[in-house]
Amino acid sequence: MMQLKALKIYFKNGLKGYYPNEEIESFFLIASEFYLGYKRIDISLKADEVVNPKNYNHFQELIERLKNYEPIQYILGETEFFGLPFKVNESVLIPRPETEELVDWIINSVIPHSVEKQINILDIGTGSGCIAISLAKNIPNAKVYALDVSKDALSVAQQNAQQNNVDITFVNANVLELNSELNDLQFDVIVSNPPYVRELEKELMHDNVLKHEPHLALFVEDDNALVFYRVIAELSQKLLKENGLLFFEINEYLGVQMKQLLSENKFQDIELRQDINQKDRMTKAVKL
Ligand SMILES: C[S@@+](CC[C@H](N)C(=O)[O-])C[C@H]1O[C@@H](n2cnc3c(N)ncnc32)[C@H](O)[C@@H]1O
Repeated sequence: MMQLKALKIYFKNGLKGYYPNEEIESFFLIASEFYLGYKRIDISLKADEVVNPKNYNHFQELIERLKNYEPIQYILGETEFFGLPFKVNESVLIPRPETEELVDWIINSVIPHSVEKQINILDIGTGSGCIAISLAKNIPNAKVYALDVSKDALSVAQQNAQQNNVDITFVNANVLELNSELNDLQFDVIVSNPPYVRELEKELMHDNVLKHEPHLALFVEDDNALVFYRVIAELSQKLLKENGLLFFEINEYLGVQMKQLLSENKFQDIELRQDINQKDRMTKAVKL
């Protein structure tokens, strides 16, 4: 039998040296909410409470899996994005805060026009569905399509659409070899957060990403890093309506090349934005 305060010390000691202290603290908060239903304040208020053996075992297992650098979101099977709940597993990338900034940019660009008419949106490489679902939830009159090459990812995205009560049309296709999957459709907005990490950047990455997140979602070849952007920009010239908007999340080291790529593909009003960490992270461009 162990009291909550003792469990906290046990948890911290178990992960000491594996993660910085603040991160361990944050894992404990997330796990206490998930397994015990406790908010931050309860951890102090209920410090003397005895944790039942089943929950103690959950924490013990969590420590072991975190030591293996498994991301806590995969262990618990859920995360939050743009204030909404999302299921995640190892077939989808864990949604990142930078992507929330991109979603916010899209919503603010589209909302003024979305009251009177239907807005057709296409999300390429949808993964967990985080972009598509938060747009559908926050843009009135949005009709959202979401495409991914991975069937397993689409199955997670489908569950997330259901859980969040939105209607999305999912398309299973390889964007680099599209046939007729999107024929006859015209969009007001196309958005993509495609794979953009170069092999040469692998050594900058931590084990929790490298060993557990899907490489299909992350990596591109060093000498063809913008392959997805090139194909999607060309495709968008066909699929976007006049004055349609193309949004990308981008590799922080390739902002200049991205602006050039968009202007070579005849896009106008190209904007490059930084994320909250001052890294070049997203672009917006208009099709004339
Ligand atoms: C960086 S992840 C983005 C996931 C999600 N949109 C997000 O922002 O968290 C890229 C996604 O592109 C998908 N993908 C990779 N290659 C693809 C291809 N050739 N055609 C379509 N989707 C692809 C992956 O399965 C993955 O879900």
